[in-house]
Amino acid sequence: MTVRSVLRMGEPLLLEKAQAITQFDSPELHALIEDMQDTMQAMNGAGIAAPQIGVSLQVVMFGVASNPRYPTAEQVPDTVLINPTLNFIGDEVEDDWEGCLSVPGMRGVVPRFVRLHYTGFDQYGNVIDRLVSGFHARVVQHECDHLDGILYPMRITDLSQFGFIDVLFPGQDIQDD
Ligand code: NI
Repeated sequence: MTVRSVLRMGEPLLLEKAQAITQFDSPELHALIEDMQDTMQAMNGAGIAAPQIGVSLQVVMFGVASNPRYPTAEQVPDTVLINPTLNFIGDEVEDDWEGCLSVPGMRGVVPRFVRLHYTGFDQYGNVIDRLVSGFHARVVQHECDHLDGILYPMRITDLSQFGFIDVLFPGQDIQDD
């Protein structure tokens, strides 16, 4: 088990475009995914992208069973998604709160497309092809943004809805990252 340190906003690597994976089912890829899994679990994240542990490759993972960070969120299946392509369905957008392991202690309201068709591969090279909406679509957009060097604060349109968790939600037991 290797919990890697998570890069925080301000680190130049988080602003880079990640490179595509060219070889699936390799020891290096499996080791990267294991480290991402361990790190995400240790920090109670809903998702993590490889650049967040300092690896500029197009690998993200996410999954929400019941997560203390998102107590009311819909479930999202545990997924490893590599070399993703996103296509938004329609133009409906909704606002909701987001946090990020690279922006600890903060939350902001981010507009995201409601409906999303995404494709990519798992770590063995199997095709992933899904039509999703709501929280699942939000999580995928957030994680895949990391592969384009975009952090959620860069998507906030109303900065009056961006702040520290303990100030925004006093008395609520929301995890501090
Ligand atoms: Ni994030």
